[in-house]
Order: sequence, then C-alpha cells, then structure tokens
Amino acid sequence: MREKIIAPSLLAADFANLQRDIETVNNSEAQWFHIDIMDGVFVPNISFGMPVVNAINKHAKKTMDVHLMIVDPDRYIKEFAALGANNLTIHYEACTHLHRTLQAIKAEGMKAGVALNPHTNVDLLKDIIKDIDIVLIMSVNPGFGGQSFIENTYTKVRRLKEMILNQNAETLIEIDGGVTNKNAEKLIKAGADILVAGSYVFKAENQLETIKDLKNLANS
Ligand code: DX5
Ligand code: ZN
Repeated sequence: MREKIIAPSLLAADFANLQRDIETVNNSEAQWFHIDIMDGVFVPNISFGMPVVNAINKHAKKTMDVHLMIVDPDRYIKEFAALGANNLTIHYEACTHLHRTLQAIKAEGMKAGVALNPHTNVDLLKDIIKDIDIVLIMSVNPGFGGQSFIENTYTKVRRLKEMILNQNAETLIEIDGGVTNKNAEKLIKAGADILVAGSYVFKAENQLETIKDLKNLANS
C-alpha cells in the first residue's frame, strides 16, 4: 500500500518563529507542508500572501501543498508555481470553469487539487475525477484552524473513494480540518491518503513525537 502522508498546516505555526517551525517539519517524519491562503472574500479570514510563501519556500525542504481559499484562483496560478508550490488546490465553489483551471495548474508543472466545502456533494466530481490529482475534503468550514471535526466527513470519504476506484482514477484523498489521533485511523480506513493537521501538531508540547504518532496511526 502507498505510504499515507502527514501534512502539518503552517496556519497553526508561530509566525514570529516561522523558520523554527518550518525546521521542525523538515526534521519530522511529515512528508508535506500544508500552506493555507485565505483572501477574506471566499472565507471570512485573511491568512498570509506571497511574501510569506516566498519565505517558506526558502526553508521548506518538503513538498509545498498550497490550499487556496480565494475567489477566482486562476489569477494566481503562475505566481504560486513561481513561489515553489508543488501542489495547488483550489475550491470547487470558487471555480466556474473547473476543467480549464485544472489544466492551467498542470501546465505549470504542479499537481492539481480540488477542495470541497462540507456541504458540497462529492458526486459533483464524477465527470472530472480523472483530471484531479488530489481531492481535499474540508472536515471543518474553511477559514480557521482549531475547529472541531465534522463527523459526516467519513461518509463523504467512502463515497469519493468508491468513485475513484470505479473509474480507475489515481486521485488522492486529503482531509483538512480538526484532524487528531482520535479520527486519523478511521479516516484512513474510509479511504484517505493525506491528513492535514494544524493545531494538533503545533499546539502539542512535543511536535516531532505528535507527527510521528499520527504518521504511525495513518500507516498502521
Ligand atoms: C482551514 C484550513 C486548514 C487548517 C486546519 O480553513 O484549510 O488547513 O489549518 O487546522 P486544524 O488542523 O487546526 O483544524
Ligand atoms: Zn487547508
């Protein structure tokens, strides 16, 4: 079986010590950095923008998994590619021409991801699943870290996994929001491939151990 991926979300890092927290992830068993971009329009919060992503890119030694919670993401595809993003995930709800947007992301050499809000039905991806490298299922409402996990997520993951298998697609399933050691195993069993964890990792006393434990649970 393919190794399951842990992606600590830098949204929960200490921004005054960002380099330190990036090094923690570099030295950990996590495989990806999850980087949340919020525009204050698509979601009610503003996180950080290009200068910060540029700074992250200077120190991050692992895959940069960028999650855009912004309207009209096509405007910034080239820019995020230039800033070192390896994966670029846009929101289904923010794209009128999803197929075109995905092609534009891939044309820049990045993996293309589609994120779904908690209310968005996974079946909406049926006709495009083969074009998607990663589906990110939001397990909280996007906009803030530290919220509690929405239980309906498991059902969505199972249905999406079934769709992927039925169509022989290679799409990976990523879960974002409220991930902890309490739900990690069940999410993987339901079909998840990637677990994003913000608060659970960065608010922990021993971040390296927390990442290691989460990765072990995901791969047990
Ligand atoms: C929320 C972001 C998440 C967030 C997860 O809008 O997309 O990536 O950082 O944070 P936790 O793990 O604290 O729920
Ligand atoms: Zn995210």
